[in-house]
Amino acid sequence: MDTLNALDGRVAVVTGASSGIGAATARRLAARGAAVALLARRADRLEALAAELGDRALPVAADATDPDALDAAAATVAGRLGPADLVVANAGVMLPAPFEEGRRDEWRRMVDLNVMGVLDTLRAFLPGVLAAADADRPADLVVVSSLAARTTFTGYAVYCATKAAVTHLAAGLRAELGARGVRVTNVEPGLIDPELADHIGHDGEREALAAWRETIGPLVADDVAAAIADVAARPAHVHLGDLLIQPTRQA
Ligand SMILES: NC(=O)c1ccc[n+]([C@@H]2O[C@H](COP(=O)([O-])OP(=O)(O)OC[C@H]3O[C@@H](n4cnc5c(N)ncnc54)[C@H](OP(=O)(O)O)[C@@H]3O)[C@@H](O)[C@H]2O)c1
Repeated sequence: MDTLNALDGRVAVVTGASSGIGAATARRLAARGAAVALLARRADRLEALAAELGDRALPVAADATDPDALDAAAATVAGRLGPADLVVANAGVMLPAPFEEGRRDEWRRMVDLNVMGVLDTLRAFLPGVLAAADADRPADLVVVSSLAARTTFTGYAVYCATKAAVTHLAAGLRAELGARGVRVTNVEPGLIDPELADHIGHDGEREALAAWRETIGPLVADDVAAAIADVAARPAHVHLGDLLIQPTRQA
């Protein structure tokens, strides 16, 4: 731990900051000294969190599936806090159901947010990250994928596919941007006690997940947030690429 730096002077942006991993990550980054822009759709939650974190936290209500809203958010963050040099693309949705039910609306929501939303978040905030790297300052892209990227669960085929896309995207970006000084970290959490499950529309899948959670004893969001903050706080020449974080009994 003694090799970790403070994050004073860093400007972070966290998507999905209104709950779960995103809110916990914003707290951890702010505690280390970063200015933190909080992105999600529920403005009331973002404002409450910003009030808790102080005047270096900026609530920015934005839908991560709307590329124009993300561009506007990037401009707002740059204007108020400075260009972001630490981007945590975390917002995601998990809607398991048997594939044969053909729930295209749910497939679309997952693909739009988990894949396109991550792409557009990284695109919109990349200029600040590249500028930091060009100036020999720490520069981080962090994506929140999932254990689901590397395994399969019945009912989760589409969700797993979106997370596999995120994991592979991180590897590709690392190849493209690592030599320019940008660290690209792919975080793959296992089961967490989240709001994520509240959105599940399929009754059987929601109940199965609740029972599984009882058996495993899940992580809490802060377990993942602490790891993300540690990644960003490493000296700039140290790159932690892939982080699989699981409840011990799930491993
Ligand atoms: N929980 C787990 O077990 C687990 C395990 C592995 C990976 N993950 C991944 O971790 C990430 C965070 O999940 P979580 O557990 O923290 O879930 P969560 O508590 O449900 O949080 C999801 C966040 O995404 C935001 N969001 C949803 N739709 C959005 C949109 N269209 N635009 C902007 N923000 C949007 C939500 O805020 P608003 O509704 O206010 O927009 C919320 O802040 C996800 O990518 C998830 O796949 C979770």
